[in-house]
Formats: sequence, C-alpha cells, structure tokens
Amino acid sequence: MLRIVAGIARGRRLRVPDGQRVRPTADRVREAMFSALESRLRGGFDGRTVLDLFGGSGALGLEAFSRGAIAVTIVEAHAAVLAVLRENVDALVPRGASTGPVTVVPGTAGAFLSRPATSTYDLVFVDPPYDADLYTPALSGLVSGGFLARGALVCVEHRTGTRPAVPAGLVEVQSRRYGETTVLILAAEQSMREAIYPGSFDPITHGHIDIIRRGLAIFDRIVVATAVNVRKQPLFTDEDRLEMLRETFADEPRVEIDTFQGLLVDYARRRRIPTVLRGLRAVSDFEYEFQMASMNRRLSHDVDYLFMMTSEDQYYVSSSLIREVAANGGSVEGLVPPHVEARLKARLAALRRD
Ligand code: PNS
Repeated sequence: MLRIVAGIARGRRLRVPDGQRVRPTADRVREAMFSALESRLRGGFDGRTVLDLFGGSGALGLEAFSRGAIAVTIVEAHAAVLAVLRENVDALVPRGASTGPVTVVPGTAGAFLSRPATSTYDLVFVDPPYDADLYTPALSGLVSGGFLARGALVCVEHRTGTRPAVPAGLVEVQSRRYGETTVLILAAEQSMREAIYPGSFDPITHGHIDIIRRGLAIFDRIVVATAVNVRKQPLFTDEDRLEMLRETFADEPRVEIDTFQGLLVDYARRRRIPTVLRGLRAVSDFEYEFQMASMNRRLSHDVDYLFMMTSEDQYYVSSSLIREVAANGGSVEGLVPPHVEARLKARLAALRRD
C-alpha cells in the first residue's frame, strides 16, 4: 500500500498492482523526490502540466495532482495494471474536480511519444522497468517530439550503478542515490527563440537592418544567413557580403552571421531553427514571398515563416535599387551604413577599371 505524501489528497492510500511489472517508488523516496522537484519548479506544482510515462499505480502523477498540478496525463500499457491505476484515479480525483483533470492513456510510452504532441509538459516522470532499456527512446522521444515546455524538468528513476544516456536538449541538474534507486533530474535546455533571416544582402541596406532590429524584440537570436538567389547575379563576392554583415552587427551579440549553400529548408533543419524571418515592403514583394514560402512549406513542414512589414521610411529601399543608383553616380547616403557606401564606391570603381 502506498500513500499520497502531501497536498489535497495527503495520506490517501493507493492500491499497488500485483506482480513484477510494477516497482512502486517507496514513500520516502517519493517524498525526497517531490521536495527536490518542488524547489526546482519555480512556483511549485501549482498550475503545472505533468506527464507520467510509465504510470503503474499512478503514485507519481497522483502525487503531483495532489500538490496542485492542473493537468496530469498517466500512460500505462498493461491491462491488469491499468485496472488498478483507474481505481486509484477514481478514488482520488473527484469527478468534476476544479483542481484539474487526471487523464489515463492506455498504451506504451513509445506509442504515446510517437503521436504528435498535443500539449507540452512542465514535468515528466520516466520510471520504467529497470531492465528493458526504455530510457533512451523515452528521453529522446520527449525532446524530438516537442513534449517539453520551456524549462521543463524530467525526473528519471534508474538502478543505482547504471546511467541512462542523456540526449542533447536535456541537461542533468541533480542525481541522488536512495539505496538501489537513483533519482536523476534533468532540465530541458532553455530553448531560445531563434529565427533565420536569409537573403542575398547584395549589399545590406537599412531596410534589412530595420527588420533585424525589430526582429530582435521577438526572437532571442537571429541568424542572418547569406544564400544564393539563382535569379540574381551578385555585385559583391560572397566574402564581401559576409564582411559587410559582420561589420554592421559587430556590436550585437544576438545576431549571428552565417552562409549556406543549397536549400533554405535544409539549412533550417540542420540548424534546428524552425522559423524564417522575412521583410515585406510593398504589394510587389508579396507574390514573390508568398511563392517562396509556399514552395518551402511544400519542401518541409518543419519550417515556418514570419513576415514583418518594413518601416514606412524604408519601404522603397532595395539592394537592387541601391546598386543601380550608386552605379549611376547617385547618393545612397542614409540608405545603407557608411561602411557599405564606401564599399559600394570601391567595388563600382574597380569594375569600371576592369
Ligand atoms: O534577398 P533575396 O535575394 O530576396 O533572398 C532570397 C533567398 C536567398 C532567401 C532565396 O533565394 C533562398 O532561399 N535561396 C536558397 C535556395 C532555396 O532554398 N531556394 C528555394 C526557394 S523556394
């Protein structure tokens, strides 16, 4: 027999399924585990979403419910265990409870994680049978399937002396031994909101800079990436375009300058950055951008676009007009940074000499 340690259902008993399939976490380990989790989850369990991937008696998920979790999902594969789990849930969670629902999902953790994530979780329990290596698929499935909320914790129980592999995207924050059992707490790496801002940048203009600066209010980091536009013959070399970008954003650590060959969607996938940022100037841009975005969505559903309208004073500025005006001796002052203006003059003079 197990007991709920704390919260609204404190002291309530839980039935333990018979047989070898379930290894209930001893009350004292659960107590220590939950106080460690409580101190790491800012604000405690209140309002948290919780996933218990190997439910068993439901003791972990129900303890979280008792302590204030708003939505608890408990996954369990075995029919006999499920019957006991349902009994425990029904006994503890009053029908129509305003504190939040507990949902029992029949099936394996693997099956649950292979379906598209319908919500993200602040806390996940991974407490599978010790001997089958279910840790690796569960932990990597949580990360790659997008099941973890920002700053989520994953609480893993494993046999002392062994150590589950921790996939990229999760970092160990605590490991504590309780005899035979070790409790490992992992945290989701703070996923930064990042976007790719691709373009020819031949050369960079104040129109581009305006979009990047405003984009930094939405994203934590922006990767400005030069690429080949097969429809355009560049005036500047790849290295010149990169140098102008580096110089422009030398004082902005949140902007990374990069370059890529091949398709934008492949680059975004390689970099694991799901958002492309583009500026829209006038109606004329719309058709071209809409076509590109639609084609890219056809090529990959992992990448989506965010369009920002260029500021009113920049809407007529384009790299091609800048090149044309400069080539014909007109002034582009104020439309590009001074170092770009100087490079334009030098490049055009060199071309005239050739
Ligand atoms: O500044 P530009 O010239 O409008 O930028 C266009 C660019 C470079 C973003 C676009 O041509 C591009 O993504 N090129 C990479 C190759 C690619 O993915 N092409 C398919 C576009 S549907």
